[in-house]
Amino acid sequence: MRRKVIAGNWKMNMLPNEAIEFIQSLAEKVKHSEHEVVLCVPYTDIFYSVLNTQGTNIKIGAQNMHWEEKGAYTGEVSAEMLKAVGVEYVIIGHSERRQYFAETDETVNKKLKKALSVGLKPIVCVGETLEQREQGITIQVITGQTEKALDGLEPEQVEKVIIAYEPIWAIGTGKTATKEDANDAVRQIRKKIAEKYGQNTANGVIIQYGGSVKAANAKELFEMSDIDGGLVGGASLKVEEFSNIVNYN
Ligand code: 13P
Repeated sequence: MRRKVIAGNWKMNMLPNEAIEFIQSLAEKVKHSEHEVVLCVPYTDIFYSVLNTQGTNIKIGAQNMHWEEKGAYTGEVSAEMLKAVGVEYVIIGHSERRQYFAETDETVNKKLKKALSVGLKPIVCVGETLEQREQGITIQVITGQTEKALDGLEPEQVEKVIIAYEPIWAIGTGKTATKEDANDAVRQIRKKIAEKYGQNTANGVIIQYGGSVKAANAKELFEMSDIDGGLVGGASLKVEEFSNIVNYN
């Protein structure tokens, strides 16, 4: 049985004092959850967030990282740096990074390999644009992104990767994929992983859904056969809403 991983992606929101207040309040509300609860916070909140989640069941993630260990890369943060401050998860290849910061399937693959090599748990994002959906190439796009992200990994490494299926047209728009469409997309991703790395590996990979997840739709999405939790943007900024998502069942 795969565990559900419910992760908030705060994006570029939340000052440290807001993060601390949020975490203290959330910790109380989700302390009995059987799900893995993760908050992917801005770099500037990491230190305070790690300190304030000690002794709770909330894990801290980052939203990006560089693939090199160190060097002349002004403004970048390495996987080693994240690991050293107590980060456990890292989002890789979010569509906003692909769209605004020139992330490619190749950089996603490099970052993924690096994250795994230092023991960070990567959450790799894949998803189609509205145009691609209308052209009927959704499955081709998302399985292609998955294949390229995982290129060169061994099956035992693939098992450690979390994939977030986030249709771009559903991000921040209030439009959610239907539970059937989301589940089908996730199933196709799993099928592709099975083809390349074997059914056992594919059965173990956690695949989330993301895109306008809220308390009102979390249950129907997360109860689908192949959807193993969610990556939550806007609704993870409100403690009541996010705790209701975590406590959906
Ligand atoms: P929203 O939940 O705001 O649609 O954002 C989804 C997302 O991009 C999470 O990474």
